[in-house]
Amino acid sequence: MKMWSGRFREPLDPNFDSWQRSFRFDQQLLQEEVAASNAHALALEAAGVLSREELARISAALEKIAGDAISEADAEDIHHYVELKLVQAIGDLGLKLHTGRSRNEQIATDLRLYVRSGATQIIAQAAAWAQHLVEKAGAMGDAVMPSYTHLQRAEPVLVAHWLLAYFEMLLRDVSRLEDCIKRLNYCPLGSGPIAGATLALDRMIAAKELGFTAPTANSMDATSDRDFVLEYLNALTLLALHASRFAEEITLFSTAEFGFVDLPEAFSTGSSAMPQKKNPDLTELVRAKVGRVNGAAQAVTLQLKGLPLAYNKDLQETQEPVFAATSAMHLTVYLLAKFTAALHFRTERMRAACETGFMNAMAAATYLVHKGVPFRKAHEKIGNAVRYCLDKGCELNHLALDELKQFGTEFEQDFFDTITLEATLDCHDVIGGTARHRVREALKSAESRVQELTKKYGTVDLGQKETAHAGA
Ligand code: ARG
Repeated sequence: MKMWSGRFREPLDPNFDSWQRSFRFDQQLLQEEVAASNAHALALEAAGVLSREELARISAALEKIAGDAISEADAEDIHHYVELKLVQAIGDLGLKLHTGRSRNEQIATDLRLYVRSGATQIIAQAAAWAQHLVEKAGAMGDAVMPSYTHLQRAEPVLVAHWLLAYFEMLLRDVSRLEDCIKRLNYCPLGSGPIAGATLALDRMIAAKELGFTAPTANSMDATSDRDFVLEYLNALTLLALHASRFAEEITLFSTAEFGFVDLPEAFSTGSSAMPQKKNPDLTELVRAKVGRVNGAAQAVTLQLKGLPLAYNKDLQETQEPVFAATSAMHLTVYLLAKFTAALHFRTERMRAACETGFMNAMAAATYLVHKGVPFRKAHEKIGNAVRYCLDKGCELNHLALDELKQFGTEFEQDFFDTITLEATLDCHDVIGGTARHRVREALKSAESRVQELTKKYGTVDLGQKETAHAGA
């Protein structure tokens, strides 16, 4: 039975009919639909529309429907499906459930529940990735690497400092997702199709049952609002962007030219043509994934543009992007956590890369500043010394004191101690800097922040078998 055949005389065009249905994709909302239906049934019972016994029969049937695999049904959408199954199980009593509600508020509720649980799971996975970044940072100790601006060597940093930069990005991603959950956590049930339910329902009952903070405040807004979808997709876009930056750096660092990391074989592939190849497919796919996720955000932005109040069928189009982006990020972050744990850094090569390229030039200029030279002048003097070294084919620490003196009378023997690799690191002695003791402090704070997250969201089992494909 259709949900709305009464006023129609002609059947639907069959192509249009199958084309406008959402069941093909919204069947993913089965659990949410059942939970929301159950919450509505509670409110109906409190309003005297259902007896206690009827409520018990409906709840039991709903539970069974949620536990069964989706089966063949001529359903227009997931709301219709649950109703059909309910009627199959308990007869006309199943039809009573639609009293005082509309699919417009149902889909608004289901999607909020879906985004809330999708965001929560992705947060837990981001926390697992964060934990592996922090563990790796701890394991790297005082290992050094060059840092880059403009992709040109800049100054040496601790590898831990570089890893913790990604940790900071991840924490912001988590807080954006948490924020999105906070704002979406209001219950549309009781809004009716647009103007509010025509039964005096106690809206607190369903809101509480579903773990929402409160009922939504305006029925027109509640049935047409998809801001939470867009906020979520934009938060995921940033997460995917951060993942892509990390992936790009690892891809670069794994080249023979850099040689900073050994790609874990378990996460690399070979070439069918060139026998010597080990390709960074994981990081390449991660690098590209933001296209899919941001594509979803863009799609929803355009779907929402100019929509008049309140519900419009356009809103059905927002679902698939949400599903696609959720499963893409779910697996991406999960794999990044595993991959990070398996990463092996070639610390000798990273250290050797720090010994050349004048990465102590800032520290050298700072030495002159401590001798009273204004920084602009110190910069000029060290610049001249660097130019001299370039012609000579050596580094600043290879110059004799006499040679240095031609660039500034302020140079003394103690200069050489201030431009060693360790001294160069330690002269960045500010909160957030790469001085060794500062990084140790940052690491400690990162460890406790990760602990808080895992306490709140649980740990993710990285040994579980995930079967979804990379396209998911
Ligand atoms: N499948 C629909 C959607 O996702 C459910 C709401 C239908 N409401 C309506 N008035 N046709 O948007």
